[in-house]
Amino acid sequence: MNEQLNRFSMDYFSLKGKVAIVTGANMGLGMAYATAFAKAGADLYIPHFTPDTNEIKELIEAQGQKAAFIQGDLTDPNYIESVVKGCLREYGKIDILVNNAGVSSFHEFPDYPDKAWKQCIDVDLNAVYYLSHAVAKIMMEQKSGKIINIGSALSYTADKKCPPYTTAKHGVLGLTKVFANELGEYNIQTNAISPGFLATEVNRELRADPNFYNKITNRIPAGKWGDLDDLMGAAVFLASHASDYINGWSISVDGGFTTTL
Ligand SMILES: NC(=O)c1ccc[n+]([C@@H]2O[C@H](COP(=O)([O-])OP(=O)(O)OC[C@H]3O[C@@H](n4cnc5c(N)ncnc54)[C@H](O)[C@@H]3O)[C@@H](O)[C@H]2O)c1
Repeated sequence: MNEQLNRFSMDYFSLKGKVAIVTGANMGLGMAYATAFAKAGADLYIPHFTPDTNEIKELIEAQGQKAAFIQGDLTDPNYIESVVKGCLREYGKIDILVNNAGVSSFHEFPDYPDKAWKQCIDVDLNAVYYLSHAVAKIMMEQKSGKIINIGSALSYTADKKCPPYTTAKHGVLGLTKVFANELGEYNIQTNAISPGFLATEVNRELRADPNFYNKITNRIPAGKWGDLDDLMGAAVFLASHASDYINGWSISVDGGFTTTL
């Protein structure tokens, strides 16, 4: 038994020599996962939709790690294939995949546009399945890998005016369990991070509305919205050897929000 206790070390959390794909990591929360991985020693391959990549490139290279990019739309099956091939061409392997890219769109329920439903399900659920499925085949050959899906507080609860987002984020936790079941025997672990309310550019306008801000803040046991660095430890943990016996679950990084009535 002492042998097992003694072999544990902080190296279990290291990502030295690892290669991580983080979708949409040129902005928002994705930047936090990619920067955390670089700080833990990984090189990054970043599929991005919007053109701006300078900031995340600088953040990764400041850690002495490599950053490579591929621009496109994750709802395009050809692009999914290019992401996998591109990462293999660049680095020769894929150790970690974070399905971070996502969209949301709020409309009154009776008028919810079919187009917005389809786009959100395509990006937030279908692309997560297709990219994970393509990457899984590489990880199965490697006999190792970590897939991290990004859920939400709306993976557990529902809110008005965003039916596809709530549906997709519930589905993401279903996919997480499906992949855990299918891939566990190949030493591939699939887990999720479900962020609560993080104060980012995306919700700057919402936070400026005192009614909304106070309603949410009063429901968070931590008494405040989360910061980007609140997410980074969970991402490194789920990407590292330290979490090898955790498979199919989600960590809620929400200050306790989802536990309250
Ligand atoms: N911000 C929060 O508080 C919060 C809370 C819970 C969950 N999330 C989830 O975290 C993830 C990141 O959200 P964020 O807040 O950083 O938002 P964001 O808008 O800053 O980032 C979303 C990313 O997805 C990319 N993207 C959008 N459509 C795409 C497409 N068709 N193809 C490829 N990429 C596409 C965007 O370009 C961007 O890089 C999302 O999955 C979101 O649902 C965010």
